[in-house]
Amino acid sequence: VVRLLARRTSTAGLTRRGFASESAPDRKVAILGAAGGIGQPLSLLMKLNPLVSRLALYDIAGTPGVAADILGYAGEEQLGKALEGADVVIIPAGVPRKPGMTRDDLFNINAGIVKSLCTAIAKYCPHALVNVISNPVNSTVPIASEVFKKAGTYDEKRLFGVTTLDVVRAKTFYAGKAKVNVADVNVPVVGGHAGVTILPLFSQATPSANLSSEDIQALTKRTQDGGTEVVEAKAGKGSATLSMAYAGAIFADACLKGLNGVPDVVECSFVQSTVTDLPFFASKVRLGKNGVEEVLGLGALSDYEKEGLEALKPELKSSIEKGIKFANA
Ligand code: NAI
Repeated sequence: VVRLLARRTSTAGLTRRGFASESAPDRKVAILGAAGGIGQPLSLLMKLNPLVSRLALYDIAGTPGVAADILGYAGEEQLGKALEGADVVIIPAGVPRKPGMTRDDLFNINAGIVKSLCTAIAKYCPHALVNVISNPVNSTVPIASEVFKKAGTYDEKRLFGVTTLDVVRAKTFYAGKAKVNVADVNVPVVGGHAGVTILPLFSQATPSANLSSEDIQALTKRTQDGGTEVVEAKAGKGSATLSMAYAGAIFADACLKGLNGVPDVVECSFVQSTVTDLPFFASKVRLGKNGVEEVLGLGALSDYEKEGLEALKPELKSSIEKGIKFANA
């Protein structure tokens, strides 16, 4: 086991922007799977985040070079040390897809990884906000919830499936089609994080644009297949890493801002939910000092989106149930 532990950000000469350094709370972030394709750039981005005072990078693979490269030192301590005192734990551990695979094909390997990492989280940092990136998110988040329930540490406000990359993609594709600046665009993406369970709500996109229904359908399909597009382009060398690191950094930053009391921090995430009849569902979530402050509703849907919502439910339901069953086996 290699554990890579960062020194305080301030020792690297970075200042904490956004808050006076005296008043910024001490925040520790742990990344599990930090030496991977997502983990490495995500570690770099979190290292740059002024809200992070301590960064613990953990991976099973023998890559102390990542720590030496960005963060200073590698140690022999255990996972527990990486997790102790963490406010936010980000999990990009596990195998990515190869061409022809669905996210569900990763279940057999990644389910066990997430289960064991969450067992350690329950033991060492039960109050941390947990950002699950490992796929299939539609199942790994329910697995995490069951592990925490068994350990008696479950708090639905603190568990998140990271679906930010779907939002990043929806915004990017929409901006291109609507010919607007992507920085000004907002598009909620709801449902889950696999194929048809990814439901971008372009009818609520801002700034609004008069796109044809053909355009909306093409944008929806491209958002749903965006991950597969990358997997195919990488031709066996993995799935999206840089864009996922970017998206993961945005989501973790939002969690930290919420913890620090910044008002009106809203991101889409796959969380325990009563928005539909499914126990977990991605929608807009207001983040606060305890994690999820409020799970926001879906808002008005177009007929096309209503159809998409009904169509995604059976797959999402079965992925959730598969995760719960695995965790309790
Ligand atoms: P990768 O194979 O490059 O890296 C995974 C890392 O996890 C490796 O360094 C490996 O040693 C480590 N690992 C394996 N078991 C571990 C354990 N028990 N504890 C700690 N670390 C462990 O894979 P990549 O490309 O970084 O993808 C990681 C995961 O993220 C995959 O499951 C992939 O499907 C998922 N993903 C999720 C996305 C999302 O939108 N939520 C988008 C893209 C990928």
